[in-house]
Amino acid sequence: MQVFETVKEIQDYLNQHATKSTGFVPTMGALHAAHISLIEASKKENEITICSIFVNPKQFNKQEDLTNYPRNTEADIQQLEAAKCDVLFIPSVTEMYPTKSEKEFDFGVLSEVMEAEHRPGHFNGVAVVIERFFEILNPTNAYFGEKDFQQLAVVRALTKQINSSVNIVGCPIFREKNGLAMSSRNERLSIEEKEIASAINKVLKEVCEKRSTESVANLKTFFLDKMNHFSFFEPEYFEIADAETLQPITEWGDAQKYIAFTAVNVNGVRLIDNMTIIN
Ligand code: PAJ
Repeated sequence: MQVFETVKEIQDYLNQHATKSTGFVPTMGALHAAHISLIEASKKENEITICSIFVNPKQFNKQEDLTNYPRNTEADIQQLEAAKCDVLFIPSVTEMYPTKSEKEFDFGVLSEVMEAEHRPGHFNGVAVVIERFFEILNPTNAYFGEKDFQQLAVVRALTKQINSSVNIVGCPIFREKNGLAMSSRNERLSIEEKEIASAINKVLKEVCEKRSTESVANLKTFFLDKMNHFSFFEPEYFEIADAETLQPITEWGDAQKYIAFTAVNVNGVRLIDNMTIIN
């Protein structure tokens, strides 16, 4: 695997392979099986797969969260080598952001609800870093997980707004055996806490099963009550939203598909998950 730290190095490399299709998998490191599943998806569809590891300071709305974010570059490199990733781009903050200027994006509803409401500035930071990566790498395809479903929607909206030719590919949620959505943040939980945190997934499933018999308001209460049952769970939000627009609903309507979204703090570790509700 080729490892590059500067924009010039990676662009020189890409210029030498200009005729090849490239798949890009942006990450913030502390890699796990879900990240590797994105690498595998890219490898199937592209001649060159590029993974980036960059803990993007602009998308952390709490300094404490940025400081506590797990970093594990040695182990990350080993996993990427094993997955036969072709290129790792691991830039510094100054390499990514040589100037101070910052664009302000407006993604309509996506900039207002759920993650956007609870993490002010977060998606602007994501959009800024993805636009910069696309400018540097100009990949054929870019791979994003549906675990961060709203992020995937923001990236699709960004691509439209900036008229980018990058094809955005959404990949399914990868879960632990017990159902807990894989996340770099899970590293901060004990084995027991991870077991208990799998309740988030189990209760989301129960919500989906109750779709035909319960109102949206009842399902909200049901989910939040179940979460509050655990003394060290602090749910931030639970919403059922239109899968197309991500507009949260208060009553069932005639959308084709709905998705239940939640963020729950488990002993101070912020976990998000979502599940499609089949009509
Ligand atoms: P990070 O949290 O490292 O995630 C990198 C990619 O892996 C994202 O597309 C995310 O959705 C995906 N991913 C993480 N856990 C997953 C799971 N359990 N199942 C499926 N996909 C999963 O998301 C980011 O980094 C950053 O915001 C980034 C896009 C790199 C911009 O800085």
